Amino acid sequence: ELGDYDHYMLKEIYEQPRALAATFSAAGGHEVADSAFGECAAEIFDRVKAVQIVACGTSFHAGMVARYWLEELAGIPCEVEVASEFRYRKRVQIPGTLLLTISQSGETADTLAALRDAGTDDFVGSLVIANVDNSSLVRESDLVFLTRAGAEIGVASTKAFTTQLVGLLMLTIALGRRNGLPQGREQELVNALHALPDYVQQTLALDTAIKALSEAFIPKHHALFLGRGIHYPVAMEGSLKLKEISYIHAEAYPAGELKHGPLALVDDDMPVVAVAPGDELLEKLKSNLEEVRSRGGELFVFADRQAGFTSEPRVRVLAMPHCPEVAKPIIYTVALQLLSYHVAVQKGTDVDKPRNLAKSVTVE
Ligand code: F6R
Repeated sequence: ELGDYDHYMLKEIYEQPRALAATFSAAGGHEVADSAFGECAAEIFDRVKAVQIVACGTSFHAGMVARYWLEELAGIPCEVEVASEFRYRKRVQIPGTLLLTISQSGETADTLAALRDAGTDDFVGSLVIANVDNSSLVRESDLVFLTRAGAEIGVASTKAFTTQLVGLLMLTIALGRRNGLPQGREQELVNALHALPDYVQQTLALDTAIKALSEAFIPKHHALFLGRGIHYPVAMEGSLKLKEISYIHAEAYPAGELKHGPLALVDDDMPVVAVAPGDELLEKLKSNLEEVRSRGGELFVFADRQAGFTSEPRVRVLAMPHCPEVAKPIIYTVALQLLSYHVAVQKGTDVDKPRNLAKSVTVE
């Protein structure tokens, strides 16, 4: 089953172009029909005024990315919370809220319990984005969007995350249409979804360059990941991947928070990874990064190849493919998946079965 790959994780990283294309086309492709989410989706979507996302781990990070899309593109207020917190908190419910759970396995105990507990609150309905058909979350939700990642065997989630983002962008389009998303903007988003497998393929072609960067992390015990805006959750996902498979302690911060504490940690033993595509925040991020460099920190900058970052002493730049904004969270995540993978392999950890972790967390 592994074919030419040394690990399932690497195989699953490389399966992403196919998994993304399959997810998009199985959901109707460019039409982005409401029916991709279930028979009564149109009726529920018409009543949605807000979205509450609940998930765990990597699926939670997908929800964090989607919050930016739902608010910016669809104009819909969105909250995101880890399931184990959501369940145990007294909440104030905005009328017209859609409860959206996200789960690869469809069996995560806390997420399932959150859905069950929420049953009594007045949500307009529940939607799950899941990778396993007929799983508990799929059976118990009003609406379902199935990702077509195929079986994910590596404990560290890779292709499930990126295919979840396809479902979340399609949901943003479906809800956005009802809320003034211009037709031309919808067409751009659909075009980006269509081209996504190609941008991911171009990112996979950077594998050798990413492996070369990864060597610097092998002797390290800590790493910081920085991002701004929608790339902050990408930094969180990159840091989770690194800690779970390489056992290097990693933390993610929104870049602007650096000087409010974590900058004190930065020295020549603390590599700093910056998710810095050429967006409008780049200049600010550059000045944040300057502060780190002057303290002896080593920077690893993942930047759009058109952004004008160049490598210099203690600043190593990985030039990423140029692509539409909405594709960036996906391709930067793929690059960070490869970074973690290569660090872990060179450290000799059990990449597919990291210690203490289970693929499906069915206990609370
Ligand atoms: C990290 C990872 C976990 C899962 C989390 C939720 O790589 O795999 O953080 O994302 O346990 O699992 P699902 O998505 O199955 O609900």
